[in-house]
Amino acid sequence: MIHVAVLGYGTVGSGVVEVIETNKKDIEKRAAARLNIKYILDLRDFPGDPYESKVVHDYNVILNDPEVTVICETMGGVHPAYEFSRQALLAGKSVCTSNKELVASHGPELISIAREKHCNYLFEASVGGGIPIIRPLNYSLTAEKIDSITGILNGTTNYILTKMDKEGADFEEVLKEAQEKGYAEKNPEADVEGYDACRKIAILSSLMCSKNVRYEEIYTEGITKISAADFVYAKQMNKSIKLLAMSRDKKEGFFAMVAPFMISRTHPLYSVNDVFNAVYVHGNMLGDSMYYGRGAGKLPTASAVVSDVVDCARHPGKTVMCFWENEDVKVADIESDQGKFFVRVKSGQKEEALAAFGSLAEINVGIAEEFAFMTQVMTEKEFNDRIEKIGGCINRIRILSA
Ligand code: HSE
Repeated sequence: MIHVAVLGYGTVGSGVVEVIETNKKDIEKRAAARLNIKYILDLRDFPGDPYESKVVHDYNVILNDPEVTVICETMGGVHPAYEFSRQALLAGKSVCTSNKELVASHGPELISIAREKHCNYLFEASVGGGIPIIRPLNYSLTAEKIDSITGILNGTTNYILTKMDKEGADFEEVLKEAQEKGYAEKNPEADVEGYDACRKIAILSSLMCSKNVRYEEIYTEGITKISAADFVYAKQMNKSIKLLAMSRDKKEGFFAMVAPFMISRTHPLYSVNDVFNAVYVHGNMLGDSMYYGRGAGKLPTASAVVSDVVDCARHPGKTVMCFWENEDVKVADIESDQGKFFVRVKSGQKEEALAAFGSLAEINVGIAEEFAFMTQVMTEKEFNDRIEKIGGCINRIRILSA
């Protein structure tokens, strides 16, 4: 019998209980063990809830119970989740988490404690919700040198951008509607400013390099400056706009970035809409592979947490290999990264833009006050210098190369 404790009885925590109870027979067969939810830690009481009697308020009850060998940390936030996870691992209890903030900030340390104590720190649910992506990187793609990962890793912003694309609406309008429907948080900053996607690409990049990619070093830009007009231009170019989180292992250095990109209809990520997420991975032997599914939500995320519980049950007293060392990766300054840009300037700046950018492709959608164009391939620095020379622009969006 595997005795499990769930930390945090919110959306994901209650989902973990629901997944285990709904699919108990199959899960136990696959785990080759019986599962028992012994405790649920929460500050609140849940009168009338079927699991009311399992709720405890003191973490020490769980920590000091030798029967509990697996802990599902679904609290979110760094503190006290970090202290709780660390204490559990030091006590030899495995931790399965959905907490991307914690994995991105303390992943290598917690993985290394798990290794010393012959238990596990597993985090399939921390990126892409229910999409299996951590396990493929750790197990299935181990014969590959992965040279790029491009992901749509945030459901809220993908929902907003999809709506803007389909309905021609502006950002603020769609955000308000998404908040009213409960799709976007009341404080949407972490999603719309790209911070959530930044944590997630830091985790994937670390697994890609087997070393630590610090999220603080990843250039991050959100979607708040994207307008309905940008989508009019995108449509004219047979493109859409997506918030992409990407990392590239190039000979010039390791680049990572979160930013809105224009993306062609022919790219597989073009069709990833609404709250769905996808991760597009390129390996030097396999070529491209893509992982797609529900990137957020109670049951998809909980399903991924429980898959980690099954992994722990299958490997009692053993650490499932995870290649993520503490050594930091040098993340290159994006100034030297190269690409094409879509640019909108005031019509009065047209001559200056032509002089500064030389060969460019005009995009005309009949907005008289503007001159819009696509640049040639150039570095971020070259682009910024030219934009500065012409006195700024209305907006600019990077273009994903095919
Ligand atoms: N706020 C996140 C999203 C939840 O919208 O994708 C899942 O991590």
